[in-house]
Amino acid sequence: MSKHKIIYDTDPGIDDAIAFVFQARHPDIELVGITSVFGNSDIGTTTTNALYLASRFAPHVPVVRGAAAPLRRPAPAPIAHIHGNDALGDIERIGRVERHVDGRDAHRFIIDTVRAHPGEITLLAVGPMTNLALALKDDPHIAGLVREVVVMGGAFGFNGALGNVTPAAEANMHADPDAADIVFGAPWKVSIVGLDVTHETVMTTAFLASLRDRAGDAGRFVWDVSRFYERFHADDGMSRGIYAHDYSAAAFVVARAFYTTRSGPVRVLTEGIAAGLTIQKPSSMLASAPDWDTRPSCDVCIGVDVRAVLDLFAETLIGP
Ligand code: BDR
Ligand code: CA
Repeated sequence: MSKHKIIYDTDPGIDDAIAFVFQARHPDIELVGITSVFGNSDIGTTTTNALYLASRFAPHVPVVRGAAAPLRRPAPAPIAHIHGNDALGDIERIGRVERHVDGRDAHRFIIDTVRAHPGEITLLAVGPMTNLALALKDDPHIAGLVREVVVMGGAFGFNGALGNVTPAAEANMHADPDAADIVFGAPWKVSIVGLDVTHETVMTTAFLASLRDRAGDAGRFVWDVSRFYERFHADDGMSRGIYAHDYSAAAFVVARAFYTTRSGPVRVLTEGIAAGLTIQKPSSMLASAPDWDTRPSCDVCIGVDVRAVLDLFAETLIGP
């Protein structure tokens, strides 16, 4: 089987970093680029973090700076209480960062790379969808040339999932709902890995400690970077552990059989108190719904084999 060629569109971010280590280590993944976006922090910080992650775990992968703000609203404030002041859990950083960003804008890099590898690129988007929307705006034809778009975002009411930044909205959708609605409406294959499954997928303290002890540098990094995140989750009412949000989307790329999905077009509310709310019209629903019916179907994750997804992470980091 040929490898999954991934452009990782990300706002690192602690769980983004954990997902990055997985991709850097998985034998069936070829990272072809990392595009940064505002989100968990400002664009300067998320880009610095992407450079650090690439230097430490994937030295030859280009890093490209992306959007500093949503399409139609001001940039949000960094969420330091979740990801730390540096958005990587305020850990001590090992090694020097000798990397520089690629000179292009992220959306231009996405267009160039997709055109250079027609039918081969998976866009794995785990932050606000702004870079993808800008790429579509500049070159709508890339939609027909991308292999697949896999998104971490949204909440569809399965397993009791509501929003996590408002009662209606998940963070990546809330950060740029206009961009998300554009991405879900474009004629490309989209799969959405939302809170319905990521809130089920908990890396416990014991699981993380086992990686620390058995998975070398990668395991120690995952442990170190998750300490801050775990304290936030504890404050938020979780007993011990962290949600594997962004890793879940990476796992979906290589192991979609671990997930069950529902098909149908998805809209994102862009205004009002429910901005960022994701609503799917299931393909089994017969009622006419013109705001959905003109749009392509997306696959939304509604169930997950948690054990298999966590085992995949451990096996990938620990190795044979
Ligand atoms: C998403 O929001 C961000 O804070 C995380 O990195 C993840 O992508 C979860 O709602
Ligand atoms: Ca993220």
